[in-house]
Amino acid sequence: MSKASSRSFIPLEFELLSTERQLSRAQEFELGMGTRRTVRQFSSRQVPRQLIESALRVASRAPSGANQQPWRFVVVLDPEKKRQIRVAAEAEERDNYERRFPQEWLDALETLGTDWHKEFLEIAPCLIVVFRVDYGIDDEDKAKQRKIKHYYVQESVGIACGFLIAALHWMGLATLTHTPSPMGFLSQVLDRPPNEKPYLLIPVGFPANDAKVPNIAKKSLNEIAVFVE
Ligand SMILES: Cc1cc2nc3c(=O)[nH]c(=O)nc-3n(C[C@H](O)[C@H](O)[C@H](O)COP(=O)(O)O)c2cc1C
Repeated sequence: MSKASSRSFIPLEFELLSTERQLSRAQEFELGMGTRRTVRQFSSRQVPRQLIESALRVASRAPSGANQQPWRFVVVLDPEKKRQIRVAAEAEERDNYERRFPQEWLDALETLGTDWHKEFLEIAPCLIVVFRVDYGIDDEDKAKQRKIKHYYVQESVGIACGFLIAALHWMGLATLTHTPSPMGFLSQVLDRPPNEKPYLLIPVGFPANDAKVPNIAKKSLNEIAVFVE
């Protein structure tokens, strides 16, 4: 099949909203997202599976380089797997905090009050482990296993994670964006193939009743945006 004949176009689905409706939706979303915080104390209350599935479908609608969708979401609900992840993450993080992190990094983490203890990895009912898929595998010819180059993997997976975190918050769930370092143990514990590399570990659930968050500020619009008119 030639390149041209493999192209197919359909009419865009686009709802033209009145400016009034746009403003009211913008305000609702901005207010809603304004309360998103990274949560580090979870309750063990279960999360309906349909919510996780819905958030993953939202993430799957993210744009991606050449539409390659280079992501894999592994949803860990099994207590034994969560325990294994906690043990391995704490071993790495203990090394980080006690030996590997330079003072500058420890200073940057100071306001957050984090340390190597990661009990939330067992307490949160659900861990979404996001893998970036660095290359595809053409399995038409199983013997050859030809690698298919993926473009803009980091950017694409980052955007999908943004969609995912926003969707989970919007449906009333708490998340932690966690990057135990190094993260290679996640490939072993979850038995992932070599083309998938751990990207983020996102505990999902409800906050503990007494959950607290650091009192930190966000930059204002003036500080983050420049309008060129
Ligand atoms: C790429 C990335 C990695 C992060 N890694 C960690 C982490 O390993 N542990 C942690 O407690 N928070 C982690 N965070 C959360 C940040 O500390 C948090 O987003 C930041 O302090 C702002 O707080 P907020 O999310 O409540 O607005 C990470 C955030 C991002 C975007």
